Amino acid sequence: MQLQDILYSQGFGIRRVCSGLVQQGWVEVCVEGEMQRTTDSALDLEPEGLKFRVQGVAWEYYEKGYVLLYKPAGTECSQKPSAHPSIYTLLPAPLRQRPNKNAIQGLQAVGRLDQDTTGLLLLSDDGQFIHRMSSPKKHVPKVYRVAAKHAVTAQMVERLLAGVVLDDDPKPVRAAACVQVDEHTIDLTLTEGKYHQVKRMLAAVGNRVEGLHRWKIGGLELPADMQPGQWRWLTAADLELLRA
Ligand code: URA
Repeated sequence: MQLQDILYSQGFGIRRVCSGLVQQGWVEVCVEGEMQRTTDSALDLEPEGLKFRVQGVAWEYYEKGYVLLYKPAGTECSQKPSAHPSIYTLLPAPLRQRPNKNAIQGLQAVGRLDQDTTGLLLLSDDGQFIHRMSSPKKHVPKVYRVAAKHAVTAQMVERLLAGVVLDDDPKPVRAAACVQVDEHTIDLTLTEGKYHQVKRMLAAVGNRVEGLHRWKIGGLELPADMQPGQWRWLTAADLELLRA
């Protein structure tokens, strides 16, 4: 694959921009373990596993992008936010500009979290992965740490597990698990993702969500060493945990 096409596929802009980056000496590629500057934009390289640097920043080629973001409070999961900054502003430009079937679409969030919800958010440009992670039919468990306004009683926990009716659907929704952390805190596991689902479930049992943090999807936990606003690529081991 030509170097300019590799850069294009990784979101560095249209091909003319990518070949310009190379010709102007902004790109280094790793050949036999060593970073080498090249000005040949048609240089033929094996893309899989290729490490390279653009304007001094290190990158690695990924045919499909899989990313984990620690969503901070006060951000919206929309590309066109209405009242708060978009989570997409937390990602570097190439991740927002990766082409997908010849359209510049970048990575897309796998489902959405409310603006005040924090925690684990996945993004990808692999449509099958997005579907597998977000479809209610796939039953991928997502665990939310819920800070409740009122003490969470045993009856509330029972009702959350048995199922509560939300206003827009006669079919009850139930938590797959509900673990009491302390008097006002529970870990609620859901396998679907209806609009404001946790908040509406808590309201249905006579309580109120004061803080919401998603810390686990499938077998993957939000890494303890990450700070709100930080992102990183998902590793093969992370993807395995998501499948588990
Ligand atoms: N349920 C909610 O109410 N909000 C979220 O952000 C996620 C789940």
